Amino acid sequence: MEGEKVMSGLVDKEIIFFGGKGGVGKTSCSSAYSLNLARKGYKTLVLSTDPAHSLGQIFQVELGDEPKKLDTNLYGIEIDPETESRKYINRIREQMQGSFSANIIIEIQRQLDAAYHSPGAEEAAIFDRFIEIIDMVGTEYQRVVFDTAPTGHTLRLLSLPELMGQWLQGMIERRRNVNDMMRMASVVDKSLEERINEDPVMKILLDRKQRFEKARGFLVDDKRAGFVFVLNPQQLPILETEKAVDFLERNGIPVEGIIINRIMPENIDSEFFSKRKQVEDGYLKQIEEKFGDRILCRIPLMEYDISGYESIDRVAKIFG
Ligand SMILES: Nc1ncnc2c1ncn2[C@@H]1O[C@H](COP(=O)(O)OP(=O)(O)OP(=O)(O)O)[C@@H](O)[C@H]1O
Ligand SMILES: [Mg+2]
Repeated sequence: MEGEKVMSGLVDKEIIFFGGKGGVGKTSCSSAYSLNLARKGYKTLVLSTDPAHSLGQIFQVELGDEPKKLDTNLYGIEIDPETESRKYINRIREQMQGSFSANIIIEIQRQLDAAYHSPGAEEAAIFDRFIEIIDMVGTEYQRVVFDTAPTGHTLRLLSLPELMGQWLQGMIERRRNVNDMMRMASVVDKSLEERINEDPVMKILLDRKQRFEKARGFLVDDKRAGFVFVLNPQQLPILETEKAVDFLERNGIPVEGIIINRIMPENIDSEFFSKRKQVEDGYLKQIEEKFGDRILCRIPLMEYDISGYESIDRVAKIFG
């Protein structure tokens, strides 16, 4: 198959994200690709950030928060957004404790509880975990493969470092102003000066900003990380992929290319399916026009679902 060489050309990337519209084959492709890397001798972690997981289902292993061995050199995790969210809020709470008076802590507690239920909390939590995982690349694991949630969710997640960076910068500036005022007051009260220099809130803010910058740095580093889109020869996945590729590129996140999944066989002897195949050919042509040399690989529609080792292996072999 003509795509083989192109797919194995990604082997140097330490992190690959698989994205795409719901149901196009992200989990199937990321499972197969991670198996492929593991077989080439790279210690690989495959993980799912999709609230509706099926990574474990495909490998027929129950996966959770901690890495579980799936094969030689291959480990898997399923990140549960709700658990991560709770852990994330608790982490912030712990960091804040000891830095404030009891009254303020009650107020913070209230705000954190609200934050836990607010939109974006899960993404922020997943992102925190994502940063932890990035730290394991090159030490614990040589390669990390992300099976992401359907496009909209993932794009929101990826734009977080930018958004959070700006938000944190605002907070840092405000905090700096408070500290400046305290500094003026410290002419009178010497103990204030020590408090400014050791300001725990400023430390937390700067630390978080640094973490988000690191994640952003990783995402836009085209030598280390890249995005692969999976699509089907159908109208909506084509449109959605086009938009998503555009979005990522505008945000400086490198897109390696696309995988066309579920292509019907050439020789069909039923009238109904021949017609269907003609429709598909039209979409394939559109994909070629829109994506051309960005097509990495073509995967045929299989007679059965991709589930279990044998079927993952079939796709892994197509990846070369
Ligand atoms: N080439 C293929 N041939 C046959 N079945 C396929 C193929 N690719 C994927 N499937 C099947 O299609 C379904 C969706 O695939 P998969 O779970 O990989 O998609 P997804 O993009 O991860 O979906 P979601 O957005 O729900 O996470 C699964 O039942 C899978 O077995
Ligand atoms: Mg999936």
